[in-house]
Amino acid sequence: MQDRTLTRLDRLLAGANNALRTIAAPAGRSARKNPAADVAETDLSEKQKTHAAGLMRVNHAGEVAAQGLYQGHATFARDAQMERQMQQAANEEFDHLAWCEQRLAELNAGPSMLSPIWYGGAFAIGAASGVLGDKWSLGFIAETEKQVCAHLDSHLEHLPDEDSKSRAIVRQMRDEEQEHGDNAIAAGAADLPAPLQRLMQLTAKVMTKTAYRL
Ligand SMILES: [Fe+2]
Ligand SMILES: [Fe+2]
Repeated sequence: MQDRTLTRLDRLLAGANNALRTIAAPAGRSARKNPAADVAETDLSEKQKTHAAGLMRVNHAGEVAAQGLYQGHATFARDAQMERQMQQAANEEFDHLAWCEQRLAELNAGPSMLSPIWYGGAFAIGAASGVLGDKWSLGFIAETEKQVCAHLDSHLEHLPDEDSKSRAIVRQMRDEEQEHGDNAIAAGAADLPAPLQRLMQLTAKVMTKTAYRL
């Protein structure tokens, strides 16, 4: 009984540590090499830089939310294997966060001022679906990653052609988000009801519009 309490406490402490690392930039070093590390910097106009920074700030905000979502799921996961899968995805998402943060600094910009809100809101959603059960957590992940892939595809269309560094990061993120979604489906994700999918799209729209500027 006591072991179980300690385990839950351990999870909560690890979650609090993750929240602080995520919200209080700099996030620190990524575990894996930045995909833009060997890509040459190109000359961008001020207008292009501002636009690229806005898009990368949106992507960074999305990664802050991903941390909240996965941590919320992992905290309430019922199954140890499920918890490990969530944690592994969260680790990859943390690299995404660090890469976006690094690119923002190179573009002389910073992350969204509203990071605590993106994290807190996503954590609450992750925890709520975790409480409902693993198949719903997985359903949320599958739907979120599907929407994120579509969103990153649109960023690949809208980022300046010359901004090869941002593009390298977004491309790798996109491939890995696809994998996270596929893994969630393979692990038994439930199909979310259509109204909920639309609500998630609406929430993402508010977040992307806001984080582009703030
Ligand atoms: Fe990500
Ligand atoms: Fe992902």
